[in-house]
Amino acid sequence: MTLLPNRILQAAVVGLALTLAGFAVVAQETPKLDVPFVPTPQETVDRMLAMAKVGPNDYLIDLGSGDGRIPITAAKKFGIKAMGVDLNPVRIAESNDNAKKEGVTDKVEFKQGDLFQQDISKATVLTMYLLPDVNMKLRPKIWSDLKPGTRIVSHAFSMGDWTPEATTTGPDGRNTVYLWIVPDPKVGPKGVQK
Ligand SMILES: C[S@@+](CC[C@H](N)C(=O)[O-])C[C@H]1O[C@@H](n2cnc3c(N)ncnc32)[C@H](O)[C@@H]1O
Repeated sequence: MTLLPNRILQAAVVGLALTLAGFAVVAQETPKLDVPFVPTPQETVDRMLAMAKVGPNDYLIDLGSGDGRIPITAAKKFGIKAMGVDLNPVRIAESNDNAKKEGVTDKVEFKQGDLFQQDISKATVLTMYLLPDVNMKLRPKIWSDLKPGTRIVSHAFSMGDWTPEATTTGPDGRNTVYLWIVPDPKVGPKGVQK
């Protein structure tokens, strides 16, 4: 008779342990994102690549690459190598599936990781659809790690007082895209107070 409460207690302890383990797994699998996943419309992807004047010798990196549409489009349209970085492993799996479907697995690579920790120095074109505060946090890395002349295109969000070289909007007046060119460090970024 006295065994029953012990069994119940044991079951409760095991249940609690499993629940906590479950939470730990979910927490590990869902990293804290700086930006939610919202895909760029294909019209805007095409316009971003056109504004950056992507050509056969470029290497494109998309920071926060979502389902991979920007690197995949660049590889398909221009035959170039491209990389996407995303913190969410679900997005990386989707991107690899999409690259397979589009037949560009030999040209694109998707890395799971934090965009702030990536080596972006090889990029000649950097694309992003992030948020204003994330763009601002990225600015020093852009200026220090990228070669002068590298083109940066951002969907929707500017980079504070750094004056863009060009901006465009879609046919409906939405989906603004900004273009900057990494300056010579001796000249410094246009519009930014020293
Ligand atoms: C607005 S979506 C843009 C997706 C894609 N670049 C596009 O334009 O269609 C932003 C992406 O950034 C990813 N992300 C958020 N925080 C991140 C971080 N710290 N490092 C890398 N990726 C991140 C999200 O998982 C999401 O897929």
